[in-house]
Amino acid sequence: MADSQRHPFLQGLSKHRGAPPTVVVIFGASGDLTARKLIPAVYNLSYDNLLPADFFIIGYGRKSIPDEEFRQHATDAIKEFSRRELKTDVWERIAANTRYLAGSYDDKSAFDRLATQIDEIERKVGREIQPLFYISTPPSVFGPILLNLGASGLARKHLGQPHEAKVIIEKPFGRDLATARELNGIIRSVFEERQVFRIDHYLGKETVQDLLVQRFANSIFEPLWNRNFIDSVQITVAEEVGVGSRGGYYEQSGGLRDMVQNHMMQLVALTAMEPPVSLDAEAIRDEKVKLLRAIQALAVGPDGDVVRAQYTAGMVAGKKVPGYLEETGVNPQSGTETYAALRLSINNWRWQGVPFYLRSGKRLARRVSEIAVTFKRPPGTLFAEGARFDLAPNTLSFQIQPDEGLSLIINTKIPGLETRTQPVKMNFRYSTTFGSNTPEAYERLVLDAMIGDGTLFIRGDETEASWRLCTPILEAWTAAGRKGMDAYPAGSWGPPGADALLSKNGHKWRQP
Ligand code: NDP
Ligand code: BG6
Repeated sequence: MADSQRHPFLQGLSKHRGAPPTVVVIFGASGDLTARKLIPAVYNLSYDNLLPADFFIIGYGRKSIPDEEFRQHATDAIKEFSRRELKTDVWERIAANTRYLAGSYDDKSAFDRLATQIDEIERKVGREIQPLFYISTPPSVFGPILLNLGASGLARKHLGQPHEAKVIIEKPFGRDLATARELNGIIRSVFEERQVFRIDHYLGKETVQDLLVQRFANSIFEPLWNRNFIDSVQITVAEEVGVGSRGGYYEQSGGLRDMVQNHMMQLVALTAMEPPVSLDAEAIRDEKVKLLRAIQALAVGPDGDVVRAQYTAGMVAGKKVPGYLEETGVNPQSGTETYAALRLSINNWRWQGVPFYLRSGKRLARRVSEIAVTFKRPPGTLFAEGARFDLAPNTLSFQIQPDEGLSLIINTKIPGLETRTQPVKMNFRYSTTFGSNTPEAYERLVLDAMIGDGTLFIRGDETEASWRLCTPILEAWTAAGRKGMDAYPAGSWGPPGADALLSKNGHKWRQP
């Protein structure tokens, strides 16, 4: 049986099979994201026959690149980064319709040339075609690109039709609340909100989507999902990689902007939000915004709710690696954090008093992302802790990656004449039940944007709600320079300050 018929991802996909004829225009097409994620995503969608018959790619960038060279670049990207091997006939279908257009991002006449190219494609196929603009450049040029899409009329192409123009905007969405608002203002002046797809690739991960199913399709969890039963929640997004070749970008960003403001806040929102009235995009987004707004402002400084740190030289996966300040493109006096830990308090009826601990960092001991919900300890009347009774709080953890699944720690009796207890772990693994080679988040998200489904994308007010929390932290850190910056050796689980953040409440970080 063909791979495409077997994987559960491909079952029940009637809505997703109806994408209109589309031309995807990638701004920043010579970049890292295009090679590592976007081209492989499109290739795998083609492999699974999920692309419309009339499907085109226009790469756009400042350098002049001949069409043939861009196709070769894309072929190499598939060989290196696709989850499936290159099958020439699959890629040829797209390669034949792939071209490159050179132009700067702030030059209206180049956008007029782009409009002409899209018109030519429409003439060639003999029908109207949906333009899907993918802004995959550094954030500094998001604004000029959006404005030129407006000025050239491209943003309003086929407006009101199912195949109206759409735009996917990469992260980070702004640098702080003010710039996010400004960007939202530009977007609103050019596009209708329904045409806009602010991407956060964590929402495209199967395990992140599964959070909603676990919470709301199982009656055993929801009654316990509140301050009466839950002691604390820990969300970890740990990476083994350092900043690599992205030192220049990372210096402008740092861990809070790169991971916490977007990916981690989305995980908090999905874990803690109220049940939505339906699975519609707007119903889910409404609940996420309500939750983000209920998070109390964080205290920064000694004894505050946040910790930041940089990695120093150390060992990762058996290899010696340099510290952050020695990385290429990094200022040796840099005040940019590669690790952030936060203690959030959610001021609503469901969560008041339950700490949500978040941590994310580069060059940590292991690549792992998980959400761990720890329930309150059982009363110690029958099985008091001691040599015979090793009791642990029940903990439900969602493993987002890499070993996707769900596990529950429960206490059980050790077989024998004496009553002795031991915590054990019940495990569900995606790969065992559903097979491996799960589609990448970008495949799902590009396809969703093509059919106009914004459920797994972020609405403007969501980004602003998240920035409202993060901006005061960033301002305080900028003002403090390196003062208060903690350190951790590469390959460890983070700085001592992060342990102290939890120990104040009698908690400890889990060893995932
Ligand atoms: P790159 O740094 O590779 O830049 C992409 C392209 O943008 C470059 O090839 C270049 O194309 C153009 N460009 C680069 N610098 C500038 C500049 N200063 N001014 C104008 N144009 C510039 O970025 P990535 O591909 O890594 O990322 C693209 C977007 O995706 C970013 O917003 C990033 O935050 C986001 N992202 C990236 C991820 C990744 O893993 N790479 C993961 C998640 C999100 P040309 O010179 O041809 O114009
Ligand atoms: C990106 C960040 O958004 O997410 C990167 O810019 C980070 O710094 C990446 O490495 C992590 O994504 P994933 O899917 O590997 O967890």
